[in-house]
Amino acid sequence: MPADTAIRPRRLKPITIELLIIVLLLGATCYWLMFIRATNGELTFENKLLIPDQLFGTVVDGRRQFHLTVAEGSREFLPGKQTPTAGVNGPYLGPTVRLRRGEDVDLIVQNNLDEITTMHWHGMHVPARMDGTPHQKIEPGESWTASFPVDQQAAPLWYHPHPHDNTGRQVYRGVAGLMWIDDDNSDALSLPKTYGVDDIPVVLQDRLFDDDGAFRYARNLGAVFGNTMLINGTYNPFLQVESRRIRFRLLNGSNARIYYIGFDDNREFHQIATDGGFLETPHQTNRVILAPGERAEILVDFSDGDEVVLKSYPEAGFVRTIISFFWGIGTGNLQLLKIIPQPTKRASHALPERLNTISRIDTSHAAKTRPMVLVGPMPGGRGGQGVQSGRGGRGGRGQGLQGGRGGQRGRGQGVQSGRGGRGGRGGRGGRGGRGGPPINGKIMNMARIDEVVRLGDIEIWEVHNRGGQPHPFHVHLVQFQILDRNGQPSTGADLGWKDTVLVPPGDLVRIIMAFERYADPQIPYMYHCHIMEHEDNGMMGQFLVVEEPEQLSLITGKTTVVTFITGVQCEHCYEHARLFDEVLRENDINLVIITPESEPDQERVAALSSSLISDTAGKWAGWFGMAHTGPTHGTLLLDATGEVVWKSTAPEPYMDVHHLVNRAKNLSGR
Ligand code: C2O
Ligand code: CU
Ligand code: CU
Repeated sequence: MPADTAIRPRRLKPITIELLIIVLLLGATCYWLMFIRATNGELTFENKLLIPDQLFGTVVDGRRQFHLTVAEGSREFLPGKQTPTAGVNGPYLGPTVRLRRGEDVDLIVQNNLDEITTMHWHGMHVPARMDGTPHQKIEPGESWTASFPVDQQAAPLWYHPHPHDNTGRQVYRGVAGLMWIDDDNSDALSLPKTYGVDDIPVVLQDRLFDDDGAFRYARNLGAVFGNTMLINGTYNPFLQVESRRIRFRLLNGSNARIYYIGFDDNREFHQIATDGGFLETPHQTNRVILAPGERAEILVDFSDGDEVVLKSYPEAGFVRTIISFFWGIGTGNLQLLKIIPQPTKRASHALPERLNTISRIDTSHAAKTRPMVLVGPMPGGRGGQGVQSGRGGRGGRGQGLQGGRGGQRGRGQGVQSGRGGRGGRGGRGGRGGRGGPPINGKIMNMARIDEVVRLGDIEIWEVHNRGGQPHPFHVHLVQFQILDRNGQPSTGADLGWKDTVLVPPGDLVRIIMAFERYADPQIPYMYHCHIMEHEDNGMMGQFLVVEEPEQLSLITGKTTVVTFITGVQCEHCYEHARLFDEVLRENDINLVIITPESEPDQERVAALSSSLISDTAGKWAGWFGMAHTGPTHGTLLLDATGEVVWKSTAPEPYMDVHHLVNRAKNLSGR
């Protein structure tokens, strides 16, 4: 072997050794932080698990009425320390609202806080104006009633406030509760059903306490998570059960923490329900992963009489654990609840073979596929907020990249929503001040409709997490099915009905849902990350569910300009309408003018040769996603199929008619 090709042993330079030591130290620190510090090993399980009261309501004139009063309070969680709290009908959390399919209900929410709140029925199919989103504010001292028919299958739902920008803090103080639906199927199933005895509500929440016992809610650090577990608002809890099969209905009611739930003896159990109802058959496992907002029902057999501790484990997969840890959204290594079985003569419930029938929604019926691209803040830097505002403010390279990406998406989507080329907008929103992890390059804006869904449509949403941290994606109004994760078809508990799905970093999760009910041309529903600080920082969007307006045939089959004016009475609107009417007619381009007036001035209308529609119900506005809270003027260019290819919304009417004429001619190939 020639000498010059011999491999010479390389000497490690001192600098490399130092690096190695640093890396090892860092590794050890991480290990300590993740697996040792996070362990709340000091628990002695001394407090009996609190079971929330149940609320069955009272029937008044054929409607079942429930009263929920939100107010401040105080509770001793930690021995000898009072914690200021807020709750529903009590100091912390709220009663378990029991609903039955087929009933009409009124939920009367009284806000006794000194700030605005709302109440959202997470997982319920309700009309948009009953959904309790930021659009249904309840002022301090006021009340609000949500009325709707309960028309969905038995499911473990929940309720919580949803005020603009302030959801995380109110939930952290304790405003939330369970909402369980029963139906004929749940009646017929042989399952444990004795509330608090063999059918146990379990609300998981992590909290950070100050020395004086007050909750420490530090949202400026990004997602908020704590080192002290409260289960149904109980610190250090135990639960005595009979030595037989027990049903737990778990809710992750935490702001940010994800739990990877199991028992400390690794026993197997059966998951029987997901967010929106029963699985078809019990799913045997020894772990359930629950992100904020998600629910699971499990059946656990304690007939061996052994004491066990319900735990949250570090997430499976070392790399993921480390990534989540650095984002502060780790599953932790936490003891949750000690279960102490007592001897019993009563026999265990047999495991039902079949729980439900779930017909898979056929992808070939999907009318539309929408991208939902989640981009979180970049890791590292000076804490979450610093990173966010830095990115928003500097408008540097990172910003450019994201704007660009948004732009591309905008174009892809532009065909349907006309947001072509304006994806960069999201970036500008970021500069607006608060920054935050966006969806499709945009930050939540209550005055903007992001998506318009047609009533009766089945849609596929492709939720793609292109950020570095996990995001539980929640859609209001519907229960959806998970089609696949990164192309892998769903199995096990992923086959159940869901309203919230955890999307780990890098993953693409496709969900499918049917929008069968409740069109409203003005009031939107939300979709968002259910990490409440992400939501409050703007990781949320709005969708309308709309019905086809009458006279839609006016726009079909030809290139059309649709313009929304505030009224022919408005001088600049009328000027705009006259100009467009004249120039577009000369160029043989179809124009439809939409006014909200019910009786527009006939003289003025007569001077226009184009169609003018009195859109008093706002259906035309809704169809094109013109938020009634947003800019009142909008001009749209539609292709012959009725899709928006260009759109301008602004506080003033669009006047550059010649620009539009050129675009329209290009479109029709003239
Ligand atoms: Cu659990 Cu938009 O909510
Ligand atoms: Cu998130
Ligand atoms: Cu005007």
